[in-house]
Amino acid sequence: MPMVLVVYFSKTGNTKKLVEGFAKGVSRAGVDVVVKSVDEAKIEDLPKADAIVFASPSYFRLPAWPLKKFIDDSVEVYGRLNGKIGGALCTAASELGAVKCIQTLKEVLEEHGIVFIGEGVWAIETPDVKALEKAAKYGEEIAKKLKEK
Ligand SMILES: Cc1cc2nc3c(=O)[nH]c(=O)nc-3n(C[C@H](O)[C@H](O)[C@H](O)COP(=O)(O)O)c2cc1C
Repeated sequence: MPMVLVVYFSKTGNTKKLVEGFAKGVSRAGVDVVVKSVDEAKIEDLPKADAIVFASPSYFRLPAWPLKKFIDDSVEVYGRLNGKIGGALCTAASELGAVKCIQTLKEVLEEHGIVFIGEGVWAIETPDVKALEKAAKYGEEIAKKLKEK
């Protein structure tokens, strides 16, 4: 069975909540999902996953540094993630902050040769029911792409 790996950083819990919504969607589509904080994740987890999703709060319009550090360390597996599927989740205080965070994560994944799905999903601060459902739908979309592969 294909597996989606989510690597996230969340200081005050907003991003973690959005990740939980996303993971529900992947599971209900019948695909395995493994959720790891940046502290738990290992770079070697990345080549083992079929899809990779990064999630972060927006800090000065960029993904927060603990996730950025993980991303920089992922140069270790550069060239081994080509053709995988990817996605991004961000929370922020403003739409601009959120969109910029998603954009950077999209570019990071594309630099790894990963095919970015959709537009990513973001929420303003604590995700509400609507944002959680949007994240779940995104999870289903990524799961569906994996099943089609
Ligand atoms: C150091 C710092 C920088 C931030 N910079 C931005 C920013 O540039 N734009 C924005 O919209 N929100 C910004 N925020 C707000 C956070 O992105 C937002 O509160 C987020 O939901 C926190 O996520 P978390 O609960 O997962 O830690 C910033 C917050 C902190 C602590």
